[in-house]
Amino acid sequence: MKIKSFEEYLSTYRKSVEDPEAFWSGIAQEFHWRKLWKKTLSWDFNDLDVQWFIGGKLNITENCLDRHVLTHPDKVAIIWESNEPTDIFVKITYRELYEKVCQFANVLKNNGVKKGDRVCIYMPMVPEAAVAMLACARIGAIHSVVFAGFSANSLADRINDAQCNAIITSDIAYRGNKTLEIKQIVDEALQKTPSIQRCIVYQRGEGKVNMVEGRDTWWHEEIKKANKEFEAEEMDSEDPLFILYTSGSTGKPKGVVHSTGGYMVYTKFTFENVFQYEENDVYWCTADVGWITGHSYIVYGPLLAGATVLMFEGIPTYPDAGRFWRVIAKHRVNIFYTAPTAIRSLMTFGEEFITPYNLSTLKVLGSVGEPINEEAWQWFYKNIGKSRCPIVDTWWQTETGGIMISPLPRITVQKPTFATLPLPGVQPIVVDNNGKEIHGNGVEGNLCIKFPWPSMIRTTYGDHERCKQNYFATYKGLYFTGDGCKRDEDGYYRITGRVDDVINVSGHRIGTAEVENAINQHIAVVESAVVGYPHDIKGQGIYAFVICESKPENEEQFKKEVLNVVTREIGAIAKPDIIQVVEGLPKTRSGKIMRRILRKIAEGDTSNLGDITTLLDPTIVESIKEGAAALR
Ligand code: WTA
Repeated sequence: MKIKSFEEYLSTYRKSVEDPEAFWSGIAQEFHWRKLWKKTLSWDFNDLDVQWFIGGKLNITENCLDRHVLTHPDKVAIIWESNEPTDIFVKITYRELYEKVCQFANVLKNNGVKKGDRVCIYMPMVPEAAVAMLACARIGAIHSVVFAGFSANSLADRINDAQCNAIITSDIAYRGNKTLEIKQIVDEALQKTPSIQRCIVYQRGEGKVNMVEGRDTWWHEEIKKANKEFEAEEMDSEDPLFILYTSGSTGKPKGVVHSTGGYMVYTKFTFENVFQYEENDVYWCTADVGWITGHSYIVYGPLLAGATVLMFEGIPTYPDAGRFWRVIAKHRVNIFYTAPTAIRSLMTFGEEFITPYNLSTLKVLGSVGEPINEEAWQWFYKNIGKSRCPIVDTWWQTETGGIMISPLPRITVQKPTFATLPLPGVQPIVVDNNGKEIHGNGVEGNLCIKFPWPSMIRTTYGDHERCKQNYFATYKGLYFTGDGCKRDEDGYYRITGRVDDVINVSGHRIGTAEVENAINQHIAVVESAVVGYPHDIKGQGIYAFVICESKPENEEQFKKEVLNVVTREIGAIAKPDIIQVVEGLPKTRSGKIMRRILRKIAEGDTSNLGDITTLLDPTIVESIKEGAAALR
């Protein structure tokens, strides 16, 4: 179902709220089910139990592949643009993708992977990453994709949490002018992961890596032994499709679990509507498959819709800052979905990187992952969209599975920096800090959702209680997003950013607690406190206040070591931008760090720190302020 006008949006939205079950069951009819559901929805936010399309049986890959092979086998499913800007690129039709997925499903089976097993995927942006995901889904195994920028320790933690029995990886990954030794990282991780039986290695480079006898095997060798048909496993609508780890405000990253039926229905519906995808469009999303955007809007949503999706291995600035625009021109891209951080970084390079390329094929632009500032919005609109392409500023989260609040291009009147209106089926509400609903327009508060939608998080892997506590306990009976928002006079939503201890660095979610735990691994560190602060390119930067056992003799050296520890424990994406060695932290008498004060200092806004008299030692604030000023 594709909405075509604003009137239609309004009437569809109304229906979706008045009778959500009738609405979603109508949309769900568009798919191929082995067996139809008996009941559309059952839900309880207090005890957290949400089920959609109950009793329905299906395999999502039959909807991504088999259906399209029947109607348009020769349509290109994936265009792959490699890291190097050569003239050679890969085009995979729906028939070919179907065969690759079936073949790899056989490989998984031959390697002992069964329905319900967890399979880790740690790969570069190559089509085989999508093939691996879909092959898991075909046999009913649950994939857990880990972004290939995470360290061996992070990878091991995620494998152990989900008890994966197989991992799919590659020898190396190319990123710009760097070559990353992916397999080496996996080897290191696998020393701590007793559950892993098999490691299947896709050869991207020269294949000169260590292969462990009995555990490691080559992708290209395995597929020689596997045929290209695989009868898809029949799954229950509520069977988990995948786990994806994401950072929260406390503790280690948690495995967000998504189900099969609801996720399928929602990602296709939102893909078609938010991007207004048309038959022959070429759609490009620049995310990595390691993040939810890659799952929902590179792999599942577009393939469910039978779209042609472009997959890009490289980075926006290699070989130069014109790469995105060159790719758009080369592949005649119609829909382009990217992140504000990429836009802000490319803005600094100037227009000479854009003008050589013909961007006239573009119809719709999209933004995701963090608030887009007015300047970046305008630049994107004028320089890339040439003031003719609407921008869809899509707000959503790993936990929501799909886009929740977004304009519909050429349908919703856009307003820069606003995600505008909820999609059909999405019922946002704004609450104050006590959980009381704030009615009306022209208001500001915490963003919650009060009614289930099909692709919502079902649980966090292995810890249902934590999921309940994290998302459904702050405000009783509501899903709490962790985001703050404004609802303006027109009823338009503007997401203002996280109100919890999660920071959003270049669109990547990082928990302050995680970074603190990593920093504390350094032998000389006694305690640390991490906060976010505004950063011109990254949106937010990471600011770490660190107490050492004794003042480091060589502070520069010490800071380098801290960065190395963080890179080792989490990955380079979590490296603090600023480290300040302090003598103490502003703590209350009960020992709680007053982060509000640290945030202000990190922002450089020390004029009004609020009441500090409740601190155990108020004088510490002065010394931290002085130290911070000296760093600037
Ligand atoms: C932020 C990414 C403002 C938000 C899909 C959310 C946004 C977090 C937007 C989720 C947007 C995402 N405007 N903020 N359009 N989109 N965010 O799980 O803070 O990686 O909670 O999912 O990103 O990040 P995640």
